[in-house]
Amino acid sequence: MTFTIHNRDCLQVLPELASDSIAAVITDPPYSSGGAMRSDRMASTGSKYTMGGTLTHRTDFAGDNRDQRSYGYWSALWLGEALRVTRPGGVCLLFTDWRQLAVTIDALQAGGWIFRGIVPWDKTESARPDKGRFRNQCEYVVWGSKGPLGVAPSDAPCLPGVVRARVLRSDKHHIAGKPTEVMRALVRIAWQGGTILDPFCGSGTTGVAAIEAGLDFVGCEAVPEYVAIARERCAAAQEAAAAAQGGATAQTAAVEGATAAAQAEVSRQVLIWQGDER
Ligand SMILES: C[S@@+](CC[C@H](N)C(=O)[O-])C[C@H]1O[C@@H](n2cnc3c(N)ncnc32)[C@H](O)[C@@H]1O
Repeated sequence: MTFTIHNRDCLQVLPELASDSIAAVITDPPYSSGGAMRSDRMASTGSKYTMGGTLTHRTDFAGDNRDQRSYGYWSALWLGEALRVTRPGGVCLLFTDWRQLAVTIDALQAGGWIFRGIVPWDKTESARPDKGRFRNQCEYVVWGSKGPLGVAPSDAPCLPGVVRARVLRSDKHHIAGKPTEVMRALVRIAWQGGTILDPFCGSGTTGVAAIEAGLDFVGCEAVPEYVAIARERCAAAQEAAAAAQGGATAQTAAVEGATAAAQAEVSRQVLIWQGDER
């Protein structure tokens, strides 16, 4: 499994990627959310997305201050370029929240994708409570395909319609980082293999899940601190996969060796027995 993480704006990187080269775009773009008013969106990502009382300081991230109209235009722009680089029948999965769900579905289709549905990510009852109201417990994965999906073979996996996983502090490396468990569930959509593209890869969680699943990965990230974290995490996943592969190969070799020894012993016994008969 290979990985490349570009420290550049994805709108510079995407035009350089070959057409029809990507199996799935799986990404978590900045939502430009975190408030109902335009002025709310101007605040830093740290103040918008960090709970009061949180002790861990994390670097602010880029591109989260667009108003509603420009968010829609910009999303359609990168989604159109993501469509070009994806192979026919490939898919795009992108995260959003309840405020941006409608504009995200519009932008996916404006970018040329066929809208296929929504997979809620249920953050469990550990999500931020809201007294006297419904707990804000879900974010949403909007997904679409580049043209028809085709008929899946009988051995294709059946994927869940809801992904339920809580955010664990030990597994969070970015203000808006997604649990690795969630990304592991999503990369299974690339069951035919190939390369996963995440144009907004942050701390590289999509890359970790892709590498673990035996897929290649290309990511883009604007903030250097997050590029460093993403590269480190992907390299660790790559090393762990190689070690597991080495272990499996050694185990297979040991089993094969034991089988060969057992077969040799059987042949020897047969020869002795045949010798006895004569
Ligand atoms: C919501 S975060 C992704 C977090 C990621 N899923 C994780 O688990 O760490 C979106 C990321 O996109 C980056 N970003 C914003 N605009 C970008 C652009 N135009 N090109 C590349 N990266 C961008 C931000 O700096 C941010 O780190």
